[in-house]
This record gives sequence, structure tokens and C-alpha cells, in this order.
Amino acid sequence: MPFLKKLSISKIRNLDLVSLELSKGFNIIYGENGSGKTSLLESIYLLGRAKTFRSNAKTPIIQNHADECVIYGELDEGQKLGFSRHRSGNQKVLINSEKASSRAELAQILPLQMLNSDAFKILEGGPGIRRAFLDWGVFHVERQFLSHWRHAQKALLNRNSLLKSKLIKQDEVSAWTHELCQYAVLVDSCRSDYVIRLQDALGGMLESLLSLGDFSLSYYKGWDPSHSLDKILADSMQKDIKLGFTSAGPHRADLKIKIGKDFASEVLSRGQQKLLVIAMKLAQAKVLKQSTAIGCIFLVDDLPAELDSSNKAKVLAILSELGGQIFITGIDKDPLYEPLQKEKEIKLFHVEHGKISAV
Ligand SMILES: Nc1ncnc2c1ncn2[C@@H]1O[C@H](COP(=O)(O)OP(=O)(O)OP(=O)(O)O)[C@@H](O)[C@H]1O
Ligand SMILES: [Mg+2]
Repeated sequence: MPFLKKLSISKIRNLDLVSLELSKGFNIIYGENGSGKTSLLESIYLLGRAKTFRSNAKTPIIQNHADECVIYGELDEGQKLGFSRHRSGNQKVLINSEKASSRAELAQILPLQMLNSDAFKILEGGPGIRRAFLDWGVFHVERQFLSHWRHAQKALLNRNSLLKSKLIKQDEVSAWTHELCQYAVLVDSCRSDYVIRLQDALGGMLESLLSLGDFSLSYYKGWDPSHSLDKILADSMQKDIKLGFTSAGPHRADLKIKIGKDFASEVLSRGQQKLLVIAMKLAQAKVLKQSTAIGCIFLVDDLPAELDSSNKAKVLAILSELGGQIFITGIDKDPLYEPLQKEKEIKLFHVEHGKISAV
């Protein structure tokens, strides 16, 4: 189970200089509004994903008046991760002092799961958000997936740019269409295998978290499953030329999350939606652990919001059972600490005006 043993942060938002020895189990981070709790989670996320979960803007993470922010992390197995970003836009991502070759290499080392108020977007946002959720799981569990996905993506981009050009070169379009179809089948096969495992794990999670009656999570591959993608793309050629992009394929895949005939986002209460999304992410962690014996690192921002104390306790119990490393924030210590008092691996951190101290 990978876990972060040490973490140092310099000049991320209001965190000036932070150096922490972490628990391999629960890390409770508490403090007033604006003290720097989310910034600590954001720093871990930057270390594992080389981007922030807050916005697309690049500079706000660097502390006002500073030129550069730096994060450094050490894992139990000895790997060292480094991230720095300069106000000029220069960014460095290091794994064991060497430049990381891709985000995927980084993600492989630090499998992060984020639980915050944005989690709702999985239910109410567009298909891209659900695809990202799905592919996170497939990527960590199916070894070949990334390579298949990259091939399919390259073929798609090339096909789209040909469709947009004024003079359509049929043979080139055909070649990329062929390539796209070939890899689409492989991407789809990884995704559909994964969804079966996910459905199974999710069933168990929902049993212990919330009963939703006629719940279903189903997978749409991105094209009509009763025909081959080859045939569909051949039939839609004129339409695709008019649109200037490929109208069917693995880039249109989605997860349909429903209660009976209705989408979950339309009928569930806010708290139920939050629990459902938590259950989905916990199910992903369970599948990861079952298939690879790797534990997720959970970043849980403000869990008490919108959850009653019994549900909060249930979520904490499942997190504990999954056995990964958990970072969890809250305004007050007690609502988080009390249900976890019996945990062996637990550390408390108090955040005050950008300073973090172990309690
Ligand atoms: N670039 C920056 N430089 C300095 N301070 C910043 C920067 N960006 C944000 N901040 C400040 O950092 C502080 C910490 O923000 P953060 O979101 O981490 O707080 P928090 O403890 O999670 O609060 P809450 O309980 O309200 O969620 C805020 O006061 C914010 O205004
Ligand atoms: Mg916060």
C-alpha cells in the first residue's frame, strides 16, 4: 500500500513553510475557515496529479508576493516526488529526482481519490466528468488501457482535423477511421470489464451506506451497441463532415446513473447524492485494492457538510476498512476524531493562519 510518509510545502496559497510526518492511516486536519486546510489537500493533489482541483488558472496557487511554490513528498517505499511552479509558468515534476515522463507515471505512484463538494458533478455534470471517473478506475486496474486509449485518441484527433479541412481526403479519413475503430474496441473492452467489477463493489457499498431501491449504474460505450463502430462511422460520414467532428466513438462513452427511470441527480436529496458519489468512489478504491492490492490515498474535504452524524460514521468506518491513507478536513476536531478514536494509525493536525502543527 503506497502512502505518503513525509510532506513539505513551501508557498502554496497561505501555507508558507510546512513540514509534516504523516500517518499511514487517518490524518485529521482541522482549523477555522480560511486557515489553509483545503490548501494542504490541494498540495497533495498537485504532487500526485501536477494540477489543482480548484481552477484552471495557473498562478493563484503560488503565494502572493512569492515567485515559486514547491512541494516535496516521500513515500513509504522510498520514492520521492517533487513539484514546483514558477510565476513565469515554468513547472517541474520530478520522480526520484528525474523529470516525470507523463502525468500517468505520476498517477501510477500516487492513486488519489478526491471527495469534496465538487463530487456532485459526477451526477449532474456532463458525460466528460463521468468518463474521467470511469477512466481513473480503468487506468489503475487494466494495464493495457492507457496505451489503447492514447492510440484511439490520436486517431480521433487526426480524423477530426481531416473532417474539418476544406478538401476531404477520403483515403486518409478511412485510414484514421480504421485505426480509431480498432482501438475503440479495445478501450471499450477494458471499460466494460471494469464496469462489471465496479457494479459489484458498488452494490456492497450501497448496502452499507444507503438503500436506493431501484438503483442502476449502466455503461454506454459511445455508440449504438447493436452495430459495429465501422458501420456507424461509414453511415454517418456526411453528417460528421458537416459537424466537423466524429459523432460516435469511445470519446462519447458515459455512465448512466439512475433510480428507476430517472437520473439520480434529478430525484435524490443533496445528502443522498453526496452519499451515492462517496459510495461510487469507495467502490473504485475497493476494486483497485481487490485487483492490485494497492490502496487509494483519499483526500476528503469537509466531510461533515451535508452528512448527518450516523452517515458520517459509516463513511469513516468504510474508509478505515479499506485501509488506505486518508486525509480528512473539518472545522472542528471532535466530530471527526470521536468516531475514529479506536483507530491505531491516526494523527491530528491543527491548521492556524497557514501554520500546521501536529497535535
Ligand atoms: N495565492 C495566495 N496567496 C496567499 N493566500 C492565498 C492565496 N490563495 C488563497 N489564499 C488564502 O489562503 C487561505 C486558505 O484557504 P483554504 O481554502 O486552504 O482555507 P480552508 O482552511 O480550507 O477554509 P474553509 O474552512 O473555509 O474551507 C484563504 O484565506 C485564502 O484567501
Ligand atoms: Mg476548505
